[in-house]
Amino acid sequence: MARLFPTLSSQFIIFLCFFFILVSAENDESFVKSLDKKKHLGLKKEKLSHFKFYWHDIVAGSKPTAVRVVPPTSNSTTAFGLISMIDDPLTMGPEMSSKMVGRAQGFYAAASQQEVGLLMAMNFAFMEGKYNGSTITILGRNTVFSTVREMPVIGGSGLFRFARGYVQARTHRFDPGSGDAVVEYNCYVLHY
Ligand SMILES: *[C@@H]1O[C@H](CO)[C@@H](O)[C@H](O)[C@H]1NC(C)=O
Ligand SMILES: *[C@@H]1O[C@H](CO)[C@@H](O)[C@H](O)[C@H]1NC(C)=O
Repeated sequence: MARLFPTLSSQFIIFLCFFFILVSAENDESFVKSLDKKKHLGLKKEKLSHFKFYWHDIVAGSKPTAVRVVPPTSNSTTAFGLISMIDDPLTMGPEMSSKMVGRAQGFYAAASQQEVGLLMAMNFAFMEGKYNGSTITILGRNTVFSTVREMPVIGGSGLFRFARGYVQARTHRFDPGSGDAVVEYNCYVLHY
């Protein structure tokens, strides 16, 4: 009896070990798996693309592309508190009549009490060629009266999965009377 007991207990310990290995393997599998990026997602070499287009922010007239949804706080000289939703055309050239390559959809909000500084949150929804249906997401700070404003590309979809990069915005035309603006965007994006 004294000799049988150690044999049984060591078998039991081995059984327990197998049981826990099986259970933990199953748990790992159902929650997270490591994948080969080339084999599973067809991701090959990361490349750098430069896109250049013009962003049209039309606030006046009967067909605005930017609509104020929250007014600024009273007394603010920097429009602090203002929020506008945008669905702004992106065109190849600076004229509205040039070819449209996509739309910038999202909002901007006046987030500075010291100067006109916008928080921009927008998706570039492309419509041109193979990029049709793919998006690039921008989230950044836009001090609209600066010559060049840089904002991060924080991600993307479709051909822009795993995207990272930045944009540089330069005002091409601004009508102080109406508030309409045309802004040149240069977008540098790393993607697969
Ligand atoms: C705006 O200015 C007026 C007069 O100076 C002041 O009474 C009021 O509290 C200010 N409002 C805000 C929101 O700061
Ligand atoms: C982009 O894709 C949409 C939906 O698939 C399609 O209706 C549209 O015609 C396409 N546009 C261009 C310019 O290819």
